[in-house]
Amino acid sequence: MRNFLQENDFQKEEVVQIFANAFDLKNTRAQRPTKDLAGQSWGMLFYKQSTRTRVSFEVGIRELGGNPLILDQSSTQIGRGESIEDTAKVLSRFLDGLIIRTHGHELIEEFARHTSIPVVNALTDFLHPCQIYADCMTLLEKWSEGNTSLEGLKGKKLAFFGDTSCNMANSWILAGALFGLEISLCGPESFKPGKEIQQLLQDNNLSPTWNFNPDPDAGALGADAVYTDVWVSMGCEEESQGRLQAMQPYQVKDSTFESARQDCLFMHCMPAHPGEEVSQSVLDSQRAILFDQAENRLHMQKAILSALSPHNS
Ligand code: CP
Repeated sequence: MRNFLQENDFQKEEVVQIFANAFDLKNTRAQRPTKDLAGQSWGMLFYKQSTRTRVSFEVGIRELGGNPLILDQSSTQIGRGESIEDTAKVLSRFLDGLIIRTHGHELIEEFARHTSIPVVNALTDFLHPCQIYADCMTLLEKWSEGNTSLEGLKGKKLAFFGDTSCNMANSWILAGALFGLEISLCGPESFKPGKEIQQLLQDNNLSPTWNFNPDPDAGALGADAVYTDVWVSMGCEEESQGRLQAMQPYQVKDSTFESARQDCLFMHCMPAHPGEEVSQSVLDSQRAILFDQAENRLHMQKAILSALSPHNS
């Protein structure tokens, strides 16, 4: 059974097809042309809060002719201790696919081991692959003047500021290796990328394309895009004070772009916290493309679900 748990779960030619379909779905959305999930029911099991992911998946499933079912931990028997194995097997008898947002990546892998339907990663503490595919689509829109080939990402430099050990940083490390982007990570030494992401690259014979630099003045040198994420990720609330203090020098502000390329873009997966990881002036600037990123979640995820649909594979 096909799953999308991490960015490299699709073959190269499938990724090309998914990106082409995402652009096509965006361009033809008004006509609602595809019904790739017609008659299907897809579960959306969310252990964590969400605005963009939840709404874009729910709308996307409906637009593809399917029926989304919103589930969570507390209103199902998971909250009373039913095992992942039994839950996965039972849900497989009812549903055509399962989208999961949870904490540990091992939990989504456990679901995937026991389901007989596709499982999609809607964010774990380790990776956020749907966000990355949508972000790469957004970058191609900005950089490639209508040419949607993934080649448009090659050789570009993306600087990631802040918590470089978080799921978004991990996902950019993986995407950089897959799509040929240089990833420059800039944050406190105590929040450097962990061993797990380096092991994942190694296990998949992927050459690293990232480097780490703790100097906030040099982090965006020559960058084509600067990216940041919240300093206190979901589940890290108890570390809030220490994190805010450690990350302070890494706020993305107007001066961050002084050493970047003139046309450097600013990206954020949202929700944004103005005055923490990014200044209000950067959010308000022409560089900021975060709402395009958010919109593209819808088009890209529709393409991902179409590719995984049991009736298309
Ligand atoms: N970027 C993102 O995943 O947003 P939500 O947490 O609102 O889904």
